[in-house]
Amino acid sequence: MAIPEREEILVGDAAELVEGKFKIIKQGTLNIGVTRLRDGTIRAVRNRCPHKGAAICKGIIGGTWPPSAPGDLAYDREGEILVCPWHGFEYDLKTGDELYRKVPTRLRFYEVIERERKIYLLVARGAADTQDSDASAA
Ligand code: FES
Repeated sequence: MAIPEREEILVGDAAELVEGKFKIIKQGTLNIGVTRLRDGTIRAVRNRCPHKGAAICKGIIGGTWPPSAPGDLAYDREGEILVCPWHGFEYDLKTGDELYRKVPTRLRFYEVIERERKIYLLVARGAADTQDSDASAA
């Protein structure tokens, strides 16, 4: 199977991306939130929750309360966890994995590049024109 050619979609100036907030890019059928994590990683996320389809990039980026022994409750991973605005499922912005479920789902990530202080999404050529934008997911 041939690897489709890719195209770049301009997100904007690198300085526009701030920790804890998504910049939403809509082009054709693509709807992607782009943010910068605390460690400087730029993360591009399909703006659709894998659970029931909420616009997940409207959720809160924060931390989580991992399972713990009684008396050891501790908030952790500030700035790395995305909480869906509909049902509160938590997703790891480092890996895409859903947290704390027996059969976890995953976020869809897209590749990004930073060049000359601009951020670009890399998507399969024509992905914005197709019905199934998953074809361009990284
Ligand atoms: S739609 Fe996101 S947790 Fe249900």
